[in-house]
Amino acid sequence: MKVVVGITGGIAAYKVPELVRLLKKAGHEVRCAATEHALEFVTRVTLETVSENPLYCDLFASGHTEHISLKDWGDVLVVAPATANIIGKVASGIADDALSTLLLAFSGKPVIMAPAMNSLMWAHPAVQRNISTLKSWGIRMVGPAEGELACGVSGVGRMAEPEQIAAVICQGEGLMMKGERWLVTAGPTYERIDSVRFIGNYSSGKMGFALAQALADAGAEVELITGPTSLKIDHPRVKVTRIESAREMYAAATEVFPQCNGAILSAAVADYRPSECADHKLKKNGDEGMHLDLVQNPDILATLGRMKKEGQTLVGFALETDNEEANAQRKLEKKNLNYIVLNSLRDKGAGFGVDTNKVTIISRDGSYKESPLMSKQEVARLIINTVTS
Ligand code: PMT
Repeated sequence: MKVVVGITGGIAAYKVPELVRLLKKAGHEVRCAATEHALEFVTRVTLETVSENPLYCDLFASGHTEHISLKDWGDVLVVAPATANIIGKVASGIADDALSTLLLAFSGKPVIMAPAMNSLMWAHPAVQRNISTLKSWGIRMVGPAEGELACGVSGVGRMAEPEQIAAVICQGEGLMMKGERWLVTAGPTYERIDSVRFIGNYSSGKMGFALAQALADAGAEVELITGPTSLKIDHPRVKVTRIESAREMYAAATEVFPQCNGAILSAAVADYRPSECADHKLKKNGDEGMHLDLVQNPDILATLGRMKKEGQTLVGFALETDNEEANAQRKLEKKNLNYIVLNSLRDKGAGFGVDTNKVTIISRDGSYKESPLMSKQEVARLIINTVTS
């Protein structure tokens, strides 16, 4: 996950390098954005060293748009410590420095705040009103302060420990898709001919695994059903079911889909399978050659399209070589999809096996979003942002 850590001017800022270190250790990428006052408590060099990225603190340093690129880059923004001042600014829509501008630009993405201030300031009705406002906008407050205030315990207003803040981020609390369950299909299917041969295709599973990772990073529970691939995914919110044939994928997908908020089907499923599978190795037939009788496999995507209930989102892929958009549009309608992600084998660097892809996301209402050639991870995030917004 890509985490932006915003730092404001409170004594607890000295704990932020530890927070950054914990996040990095958990495998997240981190970039820091600080107010001028924050740098009275923690230095630029420290923040840049622990995050291994440049610090953002000057609104006018790099062409006025760094707050937008940082918003596009980050999956979540955590403000620690969050002073009464920054809480008040956000509640009032004030954007007069790099961090407050970033906070307004970050609207629509998860924001977490770890308040820290003197207990009298914390108890002030204006601060409490601002906190309530931010909470009503979905901004997650983390820290002992809230509970302690209610119980009248001393130490009110103290920032939560870095471990606690990191745990909230790592558990996906406050993330956009928290509480949602999504199904992803990935990889090829193998259709057995005999005990040693099969019909397969070149899908590596990379696109589907990237989708599963991005959904889990966004807080969703993921049911990843994959055909044969050497790829692995290690995420507490991803459950992997490994299958071999289209019929096995069909059985697994139709079982879990009713419990899901949505499904993204990126697997390259064999349309046909041999009508019979020999339980031994077939012998060579010499000059007579060999003829395989094929029968059609069930169409998983079309079946889910028929099962789809109000509120579920169904996203298919279309891998085309010609008449790309017309074919994709036809599949979108015929299979009752909300979106179809078109990738063309005519685009260099797109499709099977490679680490990159170039897609056009077509929605049922006719809107198109075209991506440049990007990593499959970036494509996955683009797809998820598009189909969930
Ligand atoms: O795995 P990678 O190497 O990363 O490659 C990624 C990919 C190229 C496989 C992926 O980006 C992709 O395009 N996947 C869909 C490939 C495909 O089979 O497309 P299609 O146009 O034949 O199928 C259309 C849709 O129906 C797909 O969502 C497919 O999963 C689904 N389908 C197809 C047949 C079938 N029997 N059941 C299905 O669910």
